Amino acid sequence: MKRTKLVCAALAAVLLLSSCSHLKLVIRYAGSKAAELTEGHPAPPAASAPSPDAPVPSPEETPNVDAAIEGADESLGGEDIPLISDLSVAGGISAPPEPKEEDSLAVYAHYKPEFQERYRRFLRSYPDMTETTALALVNVNADYGYYKGITQIQDPDGLLVFCNKNYQLPAGFAPENLRAISGYELLMTDEAATAFEDMRAAVKKDLGKQLIAISAYRSFSYQKALFARYARADGIEVADTYSARAGHSEHQTGLTIDLLHTWPKNGSLRNANFQDTEQYAWMLDHAHEYGFILRYPETEESVTGYRFEPWHWRYIGADDASKMHEEGIATFEEYIGTYYRLEGTAIAEAG
Ligand code: DAL
Ligand code: ZN
Repeated sequence: MKRTKLVCAALAAVLLLSSCSHLKLVIRYAGSKAAELTEGHPAPPAASAPSPDAPVPSPEETPNVDAAIEGADESLGGEDIPLISDLSVAGGISAPPEPKEEDSLAVYAHYKPEFQERYRRFLRSYPDMTETTALALVNVNADYGYYKGITQIQDPDGLLVFCNKNYQLPAGFAPENLRAISGYELLMTDEAATAFEDMRAAVKKDLGKQLIAISAYRSFSYQKALFARYARADGIEVADTYSARAGHSEHQTGLTIDLLHTWPKNGSLRNANFQDTEQYAWMLDHAHEYGFILRYPETEESVTGYRFEPWHWRYIGADDASKMHEEGIATFEEYIGTYYRLEGTAIAEAG
């Protein structure tokens, strides 16, 4: 038992130190040269007919990058920090201290007593953040820093599956009910595909304009090769600002779609400037009615860990998307951390 406690204390120290990296990343975005780069998504074919994702680079093309990525994981401490699901206390680092006195944060419904110290530390790091947002973000382990203390997602088929730099999908996971979107070879889950088709028809009816699907479901191995390609081109640090590492991309859930108003020139989704179009403005007002949310908003890079992606839309169902819209909650991180509990490794509604 003593040995277990010692190991837990050591892990707590490692995770405490790692929380500083969140702040570093916020600062890094400001000076990033990433704005000059083309977007990290597969290039569409030159032909006007929609088609699936661009070819995956062959494994022979990427061995050095794979090695570098493994190395980066190690230097980030990825090998040393255990999965949270391996720890004895769900969602915790060591036995949570009992709050010694009445905590003013306890007035919030999403307050978790065992996170008291983490909330306080996070608020000290981000004094301008509201208390309710800070609680929500700590609840989803945002204070650990990107790719730290990673939780394996146990329920990847749920509509609210929470996948980001701290929550990873199993390598072997693929949704069972994938189907091609009408007019494309791109795949989404049946429910998400239907929602997209309905939304596309509504855009056509309201604006007389099209929504073009560029990318949808991507497998773990596809994403691995994609990230490796970007890391080779731009370096891992920059690639991390626009592309997810394998298991950390929502595209693997079959619930996500990249949308534009046109085929992007030179394969650059960013240069297409979808955010300047009527379709984008329409989606900001109506996408929630079809169950979609903008997953990486412009002002939320430090929360999501990604640069603004006006094209990347995530299906979560109309009820939750509408609630998020009505309450003006900008990120899925904050929404899940406010209204749902990530118990251990599975998502369950907060009670
Ligand atoms: N571009 C998004 C973050 C992805 O790779 O899933
Ligand atoms: Zn995307």
